[in-house]
Amino acid sequence: MNLKDLYINYFISKDHKFIPSAPIVPENDASVLFNTAGMQPLIPYLLGKKHPYGTRLVNYQKCVRTNDLDSIGDKTHHTFFEMLGNWSLGDYFKKESIAYSFEFLTKVLKIPVQKLAVSVFKGNKDIPRDEVSANYWLDLGISKDHIVYLGEDDNFWIAGENGPCGGDTEIFYFRSEDEIPKKFDPKDDRWVEIWNNVFMEYNKNKDGTFTELPNKNVDTGMGYERVVAILEGKDDNYTSSVWKDIIDKISEISNLPYEGNEKSMRIIADHIRTSVFILADNAGIKPANTDQGYILRRLIRRAIRHAKILNIDINSNWEELIANLIINKYDKYYNELNENKNIILSELKKEKERFNKTLEKGLKEFSKVLSSSNKIITGQDAFKLYDTYGFPIELTEELAKEKGMRLDIQMFELKFKEHQEKSRIGAIGKFKGGMASSGEIETKYHTATHLLNAALKVVVNKDIHQKGSNITEERLRFDFNCDYKLSNEELQKIEDLVNKWIKDEIDVIIKEMNKDEALKIGAECMFIDKYPDLVNVYIIGEISKELCGGPHVKNTKELGHFKIIKEEASSSGIRRIKAILD
Ligand code: SER
Repeated sequence: MNLKDLYINYFISKDHKFIPSAPIVPENDASVLFNTAGMQPLIPYLLGKKHPYGTRLVNYQKCVRTNDLDSIGDKTHHTFFEMLGNWSLGDYFKKESIAYSFEFLTKVLKIPVQKLAVSVFKGNKDIPRDEVSANYWLDLGISKDHIVYLGEDDNFWIAGENGPCGGDTEIFYFRSEDEIPKKFDPKDDRWVEIWNNVFMEYNKNKDGTFTELPNKNVDTGMGYERVVAILEGKDDNYTSSVWKDIIDKISEISNLPYEGNEKSMRIIADHIRTSVFILADNAGIKPANTDQGYILRRLIRRAIRHAKILNIDINSNWEELIANLIINKYDKYYNELNENKNIILSELKKEKERFNKTLEKGLKEFSKVLSSSNKIITGQDAFKLYDTYGFPIELTEELAKEKGMRLDIQMFELKFKEHQEKSRIGAIGKFKGGMASSGEIETKYHTATHLLNAALKVVVNKDIHQKGSNITEERLRFDFNCDYKLSNEELQKIEDLVNKWIKDEIDVIIKEMNKDEALKIGAECMFIDKYPDLVNVYIIGEISKELCGGPHVKNTKELGHFKIIKEEASSSGIRRIKAILD
């Protein structure tokens, strides 16, 4: 029996009711494009609403996370995954939750207790240290040395900024043949987290305060793909039983071995699987240029490009063969796959044909851009690839990266906006959502970038200007004109100044004005003649004025702590700083 069935059966035997997976596209929650955790569809019940199935629930939930799309292709990331979870809605609490997890792992999965370790919440000013959970673990036979207390970053769980939340206890498994260390070190990567039990007692309100929930709930989550790989002793998830047949199929179609072609095969397997599940969802998402449809389009088109890299004949029915295998593999658990099989296959095919029509020409156009340009793909070029050849911007970004080119993404976004204003389709917010590039952390980095730009002018030279910028969830990267390496002292001063501005809690305001007016007030801007007549200027107190598409935080205090992690040459006369917020 596989892990999914074992899990569900175990919790049913403990009086839990099985609830079917909610759709991937949230039904009553416009704040996210996709469900990203098992608890998400249950939020109203965690907040106190009565659940029709009672107070003990178990399921596997379809989840999609697209925030680290760039990581797909490595051994462990997936855009679609299933989360196994069990919940108590005001029913049992820490004691039973921990006892169930322990029994499931040691009795059902037969994991030796020595291979398990746990972390519990060390507490903060509002919530006491969780000795209660630690003592239950001890009673069950987890040794004292295999229990650690960690802070909010590790052992406090909330989906996003607000909502139900609480301290948690995480369970780790020793994935190695090495001798099991006496002392558990969560930083030692032979220990991998397999299960998270959240003790949800609070609601975090929009103003940052906590209120106690009417019920004390338990929310647990176990990433299915990850745990299967761990239990099967695979360090490459794509070689586990979850993926092996899909990878074998791609290998058969392309006539190439997995070894040496891992990245493209993983991307194809992952992206087609996610596309199949999105298309099967009753929300009826189709490839499009906004929101979920845009994510779907990106996934399909990226899979196609990687199929080309493997020399798969794009005009053959390769995508249908892979999709069919996925449908057959999962339809026992998800009826909608079979019910919507025709839609899935025909939409995949249609999108393939649409993209295929222009792909060759687009790639030619891209090579032209390559040979004519100076290490930079302009916003115009990127927009042409998008508009005429249907290249999602992320595809151009990926191609640029492969060729060591820089892409002027800000200019692309401007072009895109102009185009949208002209054709009045959709709002920029939707585009942003679709791009999945304006998450909260990226927004913070946008504002931090403006502060860094301003600090460089104060500390180094008032004639410094932005020559490039790139933001990911992990860091900001900022290129600027300067012909010498900044000293450690200068870097420290810059860092201190930015942190001072953050501490000063300065409001960030946005003003719409004419381009000329913006220039008159001295707003900073990279390519003034490329902007539309009406522009947005972001103003941070007396410190910074910049033309920008945003988005930005409302006040600098939201940024936390700014830290420069690297200063290096980017190209002749251009330096580059990488910095993080922590
Ligand atoms: N919500 C928690 C998580 O996603 C436990 O399910 O890890």
